[in-house]
Amino acid sequence: MSPVPILAVRDLSVRLGGRKGFLQRTILPVQAVKQVSLDLRAGEILSLVGESGCGKTTLGRTILGLQRESAGEILLEGRTVSGLAPEAARRARSIVQYAHQDAGAALDPWWSIGRTLEEGLLIHGVRNASERRDRVAAMLQAVGLDATSARRYPHEFSGGQLRRLALARILLLQPRVLILDEPTSGLDMSVQATVLNLLLELRERFALTYLFISHDLSVVERLSDRVAIMYLGRIVESGPAKQVFAQPTHPYTRTLLAAAPRLTGRRASGPSLVRGDPPNPTLVLPGCAFFDRCPVAMPVCQEAPPRLEPVAPGHDVACYGAFIEQTASIGAKRRA
Ligand SMILES: Nc1ncnc2c1ncn2[C@@H]1O[C@H](COP(=O)(O)OP(=O)(O)O)[C@@H](O)[C@H]1O
Ligand code: SF4
Ligand SMILES: [Mg+2]
Repeated sequence: MSPVPILAVRDLSVRLGGRKGFLQRTILPVQAVKQVSLDLRAGEILSLVGESGCGKTTLGRTILGLQRESAGEILLEGRTVSGLAPEAARRARSIVQYAHQDAGAALDPWWSIGRTLEEGLLIHGVRNASERRDRVAAMLQAVGLDATSARRYPHEFSGGQLRRLALARILLLQPRVLILDEPTSGLDMSVQATVLNLLLELRERFALTYLFISHDLSVVERLSDRVAIMYLGRIVESGPAKQVFAQPTHPYTRTLLAAAPRLTGRRASGPSLVRGDPPNPTLVLPGCAFFDRCPVAMPVCQEAPPRLEPVAPGHDVACYGAFIEQTASIGAKRRA
């Protein structure tokens, strides 16, 4: 595996809103992403997990260049794409594609599938019509659909088939990294399983790397090499998936895992529901954002946001309580 991450995010912050919206209502600014750092290594699946509204989509859109960062840097294959001129940034980002949560939104309802898929190739300079047709037919088969699907229209497909078509559309552009935003949400369990299997097959076949955005921990556990847990714009825990699932350390991760019904292996201890609602994202809190919901909060937690620190090799946690727990356990082992 190359030592240079295929995608790296360094101290990325993204501020949204803070302007006049519909009917001149002022939209309060939201710090949707706060000092996030991530490394994605070629070939791996890194899952980004957290409740709705924690900033997952905003992070994905910012990596893709659809949203501008307010601070920090994004690097692809070791080269920065932050601050590049639009054309250069577009070229540099062409190795990353985004699979939208709403698969149907990526397909024009008035165009045949063949026309939509060929259009992407045309924009990317494939001038020869028969080459475009052949490539579309081969890609439809690669995602498990019949080549005759090219003659049909989006409304003729089921939810699971639309996900396959959306994948075909972006894979024709030969990306190396896919940002998969809740790719199975809204699908029945059996269809979810087939889409997940397809994602694993496609990863092998096209040597892809995935940033997998989800709030479904059973899916994340099944798929991920590494996992990053996000709470109100910050990564609060990250590490190898096996380790985080076996030894969840942040109180938020513990409550998420304890609440997930279908998880296998060791169950997390802790309350099985995250108490209360997430704080208002427009508020700027001085300390840990999880304070009001945390079962083990201490006065120190209100002073400054805890920083991510290693608790094991490659396993980082941002929680004062976790470090007190770790120090106590090391002390107990020494005394034993
Ligand atoms: N265009 C926008 N303007 C202002 N706030 C926004 C906008 N889009 C999202 N937000 C806010 O940013 C935060 C993160 O949203 P989002 O990235 O969609 O979260 P997630 O994908 O984890 O559900 C939320 O508080 C959301 O309300
Ligand atoms: S820093 Fe404090 S409030 Fe935040 S999760 Fe850890 S123990 Fe709870
Ligand atoms: Mg989202």
